[in-house]
Amino acid sequence: MSSPAQVGIVGCGVISRAYAANASAFDSFEIGACADLEPSRSEEIGAEFTLRPLTVEELLRSDSIDVVLNLTPPASHASVTRAALEAGKHVYSEKPLAIAATEAEELCALAESEGLRLACAPDIFLGSAYQKARSLLDDGAIGEPLAISAAMLAGGQEVWHPDPDIFYRDGAGPLLDMGPYYVSAIVSLLGPVRRVAGFASTHVEERTIKVGPRRGERFTAETPTHITSMLELQGAVTATLVATFEAPGHYASTMLVHGSDGELALPDPNGFAGPVRIRRGRGTWEGVPFTSRGAADARGLGLHDMVEAIAEERPHRASAQLATHIVDVARSILASCDSGSAVAIASTAERPDALPVEAARRADEAA
Ligand SMILES: NC(=O)c1ccc[n+]([C@@H]2O[C@H](COP(=O)([O-])OP(=O)(O)OC[C@H]3O[C@@H](n4cnc5c(N)ncnc54)[C@H](O)[C@@H]3O)[C@@H](O)[C@H]2O)c1
Repeated sequence: MSSPAQVGIVGCGVISRAYAANASAFDSFEIGACADLEPSRSEEIGAEFTLRPLTVEELLRSDSIDVVLNLTPPASHASVTRAALEAGKHVYSEKPLAIAATEAEELCALAESEGLRLACAPDIFLGSAYQKARSLLDDGAIGEPLAISAAMLAGGQEVWHPDPDIFYRDGAGPLLDMGPYYVSAIVSLLGPVRRVAGFASTHVEERTIKVGPRRGERFTAETPTHITSMLELQGAVTATLVATFEAPGHYASTMLVHGSDGELALPDPNGFAGPVRIRRGRGTWEGVPFTSRGAADARGLGLHDMVEAIAEERPHRASAQLATHIVDVARSILASCDSGSAVAIASTAERPDALPVEAARRADEAA
């Protein structure tokens, strides 16, 4: 593999701009090329960030690309990742890794058999705020962790995304599109999920696109848009997660860890900012200072860790095993919503190693 690793983006939509802009914060990789099914999109992103616009086939065949950054819609993640692995590329994919757990497992097996790395977003649990929270929990700052209250309330992507229907198809919806931020954070803080139960509904089935060239077009939600779930973790810690696209009036994110001696209030796991707050005993809430990675506290951190892990011959943290577990948990919650019974989780995941801020600082300082 080249040093820095050469990365090619597949899928030049909304989030590709964030990855392309963030890349300068990391010295371990460079994004040099991009591809999209729609050539106008790769040409636009290519011109904006000085990337070579290629067809998907050209990018996958290119000897100068080491890693494919898969930023296609959820329904295309598995096919694009499979094609990239078959072309001999390491892959970092946006979440979810696949829309079904069996598909995700097949991708893990393919990567392993080819001797390639496969990693998956989100990487925000590697950010300095969530790493601080992790060290507080490990140090017993709120005593024994007992439960987590998590909630994500939004109105849905139709108010800001030009192609929002990709987020309402089977394999997306609030649970598979936004749930991975919360469940990855929960697993990285407190370990894997053993059992789940859930309730699901759809209040507004027909949605209208509010922005972009398709403004005014209507589409139908194909997956539940309001899900409340319960998760039992190893060690009998429990969590509740509300994920909804039925709250057009506001955006709210809650992540509270309840312990035997206090509580931690954590920031939105869909963003790298703080604050981290703690309340001990019956005291008042206090902010907890933590060292930021600066520009390297951004989407791209998980890709940076994967590329460094290849060079250092160690496991990477945003692992395909974790991402498979996340898909399994989300799918099992939906299965519970249908059956009315709790569902045991077949998969598991190692809690990823902590990522000390100092370790990632090298990337920031080099920027
Ligand atoms: N938009 C965000 O703020 C955001 C944030 C975090 C994560 N994500 C995730 O990133 C992914 C992409 O989201 P987005 O908002 O950028 O979507 P988008 O619809 O804006 O862009 C997706 C792009 O992929 C292209 N594409 C589709 N299938 C393809 C294929 N098989 N090969 C090549 N190109 C293909 C489309 O033409 C489009 O340009 C999703 O999984 C989403 O969950 C998005």
